[in-house]
Amino acid sequence: MGSKIAIIGTGYVGLTTGACLSHLGHTVVCADVVPEKVESLSRGEVPILEAGLDDLVHDGIAKGLLSFVLGAEHAVGDAEFIFLCLPTPQGADGAADLSFIKAAATDIGPHLQPNSVVINKSTVPVGSAGEVEKKLGRDDVFVVSNPEFLREGTAVTDFLNPDRVVIGSTDEAAAKRVAQLYVELPGETLITDPASAETIKYASNAFLATKISFVNAMAAVCEEVGADVSDVVKGMGLDQRIGNRFLIPGPGWGGSCFPKDSHALVRIAENSGYQFGLLRQVIAVNEEQFGRVANKITRFAGGTLEGKTIAVWGLTFKAATDDLRDSPALNIINRLLEVGASIHAYDPAVPDNSDARLTGIDVFTDPYEAVAGADVLAVLTEWPEFKELSFERVAEVIGTKAVVDARNLLDRDGIKDLGFEYDGIGRS
Ligand code: UDX
Repeated sequence: MGSKIAIIGTGYVGLTTGACLSHLGHTVVCADVVPEKVESLSRGEVPILEAGLDDLVHDGIAKGLLSFVLGAEHAVGDAEFIFLCLPTPQGADGAADLSFIKAAATDIGPHLQPNSVVINKSTVPVGSAGEVEKKLGRDDVFVVSNPEFLREGTAVTDFLNPDRVVIGSTDEAAAKRVAQLYVELPGETLITDPASAETIKYASNAFLATKISFVNAMAAVCEEVGADVSDVVKGMGLDQRIGNRFLIPGPGWGGSCFPKDSHALVRIAENSGYQFGLLRQVIAVNEEQFGRVANKITRFAGGTLEGKTIAVWGLTFKAATDDLRDSPALNIINRLLEVGASIHAYDPAVPDNSDARLTGIDVFTDPYEAVAGADVLAVLTEWPEFKELSFERVAEVIGTKAVVDARNLLDRDGIKDLGFEYDGIGRS
């Protein structure tokens, strides 16, 4: 028998969580504060690119298990579980900004059913469960931490096939009630205290970012010693203790989580008395990586970018998403624009340059048009379609046959056979 659930916030996490929980048979009401968003979602219009999400939203609405309302206080009336899926953006000092979470808790407190469970799904700093309890102003409801581990682009798959469900609570019975929501799903369920649950989330993202910064640093070493990072990573990954996932070198990591969460964890540690030098260095290596890619492009452009045209394939922070937040591609492009380059970009998920973050970038809808006359082509996002494009055709239209493949995505030998200069990350 499904439970009655309220989801506060209908972004990447809230919409995916609500749709998947309705798919599991629960009755879900999602609340947002933007009227147009509530109306379009109620019509089944999904504003984000997430494989499988459209179908789950349409099914949920059709079965009467998923609905959308304006205002959190209208969603929690008869809910037994209330998921807070609200932004926790990086504040000016690097710490996570909890203002959205606190405002929602204040709004819903008076409307909650006795014995209901408020669940922190958003990534919140250690100790936030207590903050939420205070704002709710109730002693007859529970607050539980249940962090999400959803990757953009695969959020539905990640939700329905979790490696683990982490639940942090001071009340064992409340934790078990939340665990029951996921009973049909695979993976381990770990019940712990709130601080540990909140720390697992930050530690997991920070470790994944560490793996990537490590492999990007190893790629720099490979370039100096003449090794091929692809084989080095393959050799490393065959060790079961290391594994081969999240060991793909690239332009650096970005997105709406790693940058925010890595800075937040440094702040959480330092506010608690530990100087997290290792994680600071992971962040520093990531910043360096953006510069290394920009330098590769500059080198291929003859040492200066003034008046040069750089074609860029890939604007989003990774493939299979339309998200530009903290995209390494944009970080690198801005460095090129600052020294006088013109940027001609193509990205399958970015139709035009109407987004303010694309100011100064000419966005094309055809990858070959973006390349025409360019001095260098840089591949910055690992869209699979880029592998299928014809470099014979690129050779006909590009100004100079030079490619910086910041995702080691392309057929290096085939491109070199066509007379291109090629540089990758940790392989040349
Ligand atoms: C991440 C975590 O994976 C997820 O568990 C958490 O809930 C949210 O943050 P996401 O930010 O959506 O998910 O993307 P992810 O796939 O982790 O990639 C993050 C960044 O690392 C991207 O810029 C990606 O291109 C980069 N990356 C990832 C690499 O450079 N190399 C890799 O091997 C993997």
